[in-house]
Amino acid sequence: MIPQDAISEIFESARVEEVIQDYVTLKKRGVNMIGNCPFHNEKTPSFTVSPTKGIYKCFGCGKAGNSVNFMMEHEQMTYPEALRYLANKYNIEIEEKELSPEQKEQQSSRESLQIVNSYAQKYFTQQLLETDEGKSIGLSYFKERGYSMETIERFQLGYNPDVWNGFTSEALKQGYKEEFLLASGLTKGEPGKRFDFFKGRVMFPIHTITGRVIAFGGRTLRNDKKTAKYFNSPESELYNKSKVLYGLYFAKKDIVKKDVCYLVEGYTDVISLHQRGIENVVSSSGTSLTVEQIKLIKRYTPNITMLFDGDVAGIKASFRGIDMILKEGLNVKVVLFPDGEDPDSYAKKLSQPEMEDFIETNSKDFIMFRADLADDEIKEDPIKRTELINSLAETLSFVQDELKRNDYIKLCSERLNASEKSIHQAVKNNIKNNYNKERNSRLRNEVVQELPITKIVSDKQHDISFDENTSEHEEFHIVRLLMSFGNREVKFSRITEEGEEQIDVSVLEYIIHMIEHDDILFTNKIYQRIFNHFSKIFHEGLPFEIKSLLLNTDPEIVETAITLSQEKYLMSDNWKVKHKIYVTTEDMKLRFAIEHAVLALQLKRVEMDIAKIQDRLKEEPVEEEITDLLSSQLTLIELKKIISDKLNRVILK
Ligand code: CTP
Ligand code: MN
Repeated sequence: MIPQDAISEIFESARVEEVIQDYVTLKKRGVNMIGNCPFHNEKTPSFTVSPTKGIYKCFGCGKAGNSVNFMMEHEQMTYPEALRYLANKYNIEIEEKELSPEQKEQQSSRESLQIVNSYAQKYFTQQLLETDEGKSIGLSYFKERGYSMETIERFQLGYNPDVWNGFTSEALKQGYKEEFLLASGLTKGEPGKRFDFFKGRVMFPIHTITGRVIAFGGRTLRNDKKTAKYFNSPESELYNKSKVLYGLYFAKKDIVKKDVCYLVEGYTDVISLHQRGIENVVSSSGTSLTVEQIKLIKRYTPNITMLFDGDVAGIKASFRGIDMILKEGLNVKVVLFPDGEDPDSYAKKLSQPEMEDFIETNSKDFIMFRADLADDEIKEDPIKRTELINSLAETLSFVQDELKRNDYIKLCSERLNASEKSIHQAVKNNIKNNYNKERNSRLRNEVVQELPITKIVSDKQHDISFDENTSEHEEFHIVRLLMSFGNREVKFSRITEEGEEQIDVSVLEYIIHMIEHDDILFTNKIYQRIFNHFSKIFHEGLPFEIKSLLLNTDPEIVETAITLSQEKYLMSDNWKVKHKIYVTTEDMKLRFAIEHAVLALQLKRVEMDIAKIQDRLKEEPVEEEITDLLSSQLTLIELKKIISDKLNRVILK
């Protein structure tokens, strides 16, 4: 359990704009900051961060929250994980009590997997640096590859000795559960015959964007062809390989600085380039490039340069990658390395400036890249030329920006000596095809997404749906009033011995008093928690501020509070027209609104009680109960009439 005062400190320290800027490039816009939403795909930024309120809100997809919610949503962390991460970032000490066995049980399996991976990383590093086998085999291998101690430490490289179950038995001894050792893929085998998956391998930990270890790649040091050169951790609750880029944690700063991300094949390429001082480099390691990975890069830069060694399989794979990158609206270039060289080997031959110069001068856009590759074939075979043009037209159809697309078409026409018009036509056909394909698959999946703006225009008040069998709609009005006008004062008259007297009562006091006097509990759990928050403020005499609600430690409260504090949910004068009430002063309007809201809730609750009695009566209870029920019903109907009269509503039934 994280103690409450630590939680408060985390909320006070974790500046929302700082936390988010680790992931999203934000620009200043008035008092707020704005950027491309990391939760949905967009071209114009609608993701707004308010440093003063400590919250973010996307006007495109509606996601909203504070710094803790952001980490939960973005990194798929649990609430305690997010708090621990922020505590670590802001050097806040969390003195956690020793967990009881049951509490240990309750820790989420994600968290447990995380702990196992983090332990394993430390174990493998310790084996590498501090044992004889580690030093003579693992460490000397890395040294031979030219890795410096600094590099080895930075990438947290390790070694797992070539014994049956060294890691597994030590982990079990340390109290890590077999269940999670198995789930992490580090341990394999039948009960009683468990063994280490990565026996006798040097270990490359795979980090999340925030630097947590969630998986490993392990390279064998044997030369026999029978065993795979690299093993990778299996996918788990924690590790989804299509959503991870190897090296991104170490590269993100430099990617933003250089405004380009280099994409390479594997671990060794990333590490060697890093050591050469070229840090803006990542790898999709072990999988072909995925859309999710491209989206990760897009958060930092719109420019990707693929660095390829010259083998045929790699080149073919790059074509699909290029299409995907263009589809996501990014710019792509390709660098082909000389025969027999990959970025890893080449980085060792060249100095940093030479390497930078090599990449710079050999970067080609995809048209030149494809045309140069096919040059010899084209010269001899006109059919090959047509095929290439058609294939490029398909790729060009993925270029999102029209001006850019036209530039490429021009380039393509010049390079391949074909008419611009015919390429245009081919591209257009492809665009139409893509569109149809996409629409069909969309319809098939029935994900017809409503545009938020039309939602706002068409149904201004009611895009929150309420369960009308409960009183949550009435509760919504109460919460909204508390949030909008809690600190406003309203005049009530009170009869005293000396006659009538005007007293000022705050909206907060009035509503809290009325609801608590009737012992009403809200049907909507979140509204109830928001109400409790206001009740606490009132009873403890704390100052009334919406901000305290937005910084609440309960993520559901924050989410709801932000939704409700949008303009469209705040109270306006609309209700006046709706209820055909004409009042003159601001004060009277407000007084009417709060009385109305409380009465409406009371009425709804009475109606719900009546409905409950009628349901019970349908179940044909025993004689005495029927008598009781009928008499309660009578009382309730009386009450309903009184409240309704007060509400000045006509009862139709
Ligand atoms: N790779 C992989 N799985 C394989 C082979 C390669 O994931 N079976 C990835 C690794 O990330 C590796 C990169 O591709 O870093 C480069 O491959 P390769 O050059 O074959 O690996 P090295 O470890 O560099 O081997 P060598 O020393 O033989 O060059
Ligand atoms: Mn290699």
